[in-house]
Amino acid sequence: MDAIRILGGVPLTGEIVIGGAKNAALPLMAATLLTDQPLTLINMPELVDISTMSNLLRQHGARIDQSALAPGAGEAGATGRSMTLTSERITSVTAPYDLVRRMRASVLVLGPLLARMHEAKVSLPGGCAIGTRPVDLHLKALEALGAKIDVKGGYIHATAPGGLKGAKVVFPKVTVGGTENLLMAAALAAGDTVLENAAREPEIGNLADCLNAMGAEISGIGSGTLKIRGVKTLHGARVAVIPDRIETGTYAIAGAITRGRVTLKGTSFDLLDSVFSAMRQAGASVEQVEDGVVVSAEDGLNGIDVMTEPFPGFPTDMQAQWMALMATANGASMITETIFENRFMHVPELTRFGADVNVHGASAIIRGRKQLSGAPVMATDLRASSSLILAGLAAEGETLVNRIYHLDRGYERLEEKLGACGARIERIVGG
Ligand code: EPZ
Repeated sequence: MDAIRILGGVPLTGEIVIGGAKNAALPLMAATLLTDQPLTLINMPELVDISTMSNLLRQHGARIDQSALAPGAGEAGATGRSMTLTSERITSVTAPYDLVRRMRASVLVLGPLLARMHEAKVSLPGGCAIGTRPVDLHLKALEALGAKIDVKGGYIHATAPGGLKGAKVVFPKVTVGGTENLLMAAALAAGDTVLENAAREPEIGNLADCLNAMGAEISGIGSGTLKIRGVKTLHGARVAVIPDRIETGTYAIAGAITRGRVTLKGTSFDLLDSVFSAMRQAGASVEQVEDGVVVSAEDGLNGIDVMTEPFPGFPTDMQAQWMALMATANGASMITETIFENRFMHVPELTRFGADVNVHGASAIIRGRKQLSGAPVMATDLRASSSLILAGLAAEGETLVNRIYHLDRGYERLEEKLGACGARIERIVGG
């Protein structure tokens, strides 16, 4: 298994180009199942999760062609690959356990398959390191659109013999994946659907814009109420994946935690207002410049409290990285996690760097230290892994982050991007 070795203590300075968002790309890819025409996605990140979704879609019958784009050649500042997905014929409506267990976002094929084929059989995603993460809200909402759902043998078997019918759905809790599944399902349902208490994450906007470009009729984008007028068919489109706001935030913290100065290109302040505002409050400088954001914390930082919330609140996907930052700030701070019930698994690993963190239920109290010291640590999930990388960059001496396969699911060329800003970081293959 690969590991990452870091010799910490170097203030990072330089430029990092932010890639396309994993969590936008995955639902956009699933949208191919809604049409027999080609869907071209530009600014696609190169990540293990993207390959997993490609494999899943191929076994449903999608053809996937990929091409590299020269840096700067993309539209809207896009620099990543482009991918064209064509699902002329759906050859299987089953998403098998073996693929779904690798990535929970596989459940995003449920809505589109049901809408187009009137049937889907999707393995129930199992447990997850950060929480139980049920999909009951997806299923209840699809039932409101007329689907009949049986859960048997570990599979969700959903059918809608006469097709889905528009309805009003009030989500009792904000769910990103649930909103995405329903948007795709309702796009091809008969009549009007209203989704209340819908997620407002920028990735939802990216998907809704893509569906509209494919001929859907969705309004209320960016608000908590999405209205969808169902259409009979959707057509092909060419759509850019938005910048990855969590990659943006992770590298912003890499600049701040090393008391350096980094320029994040191809991204924007608005995508991550909550985190940038918290960084400013803590004493960092965050400036929106043309085509990017410049972050520095040359004068140190003070502890401040944050609570994770659905967008536009502080993202749970930045909580672990924020904790690493607060572990190096002056004074005490508190982090309250409200989205996932088990998302403090990075705490025991961060304490190996000398971080002073106490967890009480859903809150963690962090008492900042002048200096962390490098240590061998173990990554437990994607964002926890990146918090350990950040702590390693700030710590004195050597850090070895083991089990980094989690990182490859969500960060492309991490060592290269950080290395270009002066980080002493290397991957040890098979380490
Ligand atoms: C998305 O997961 C992201 N994944 C997650 O990013 C992110 O942490 C999460 O949203 C919250 O922002 C993708 O976009 C692929 P939810 P998702 O449905 O859609 C509960 C990362 O690191 N819930 O918004 O699965 C659920 O248990 C990943 O990139 C139900 O109870 O999240 C959680 O407590 C990790 N029943 C809360 O709602 C349901 O049917 C929010 O989950 C659905 C969700």
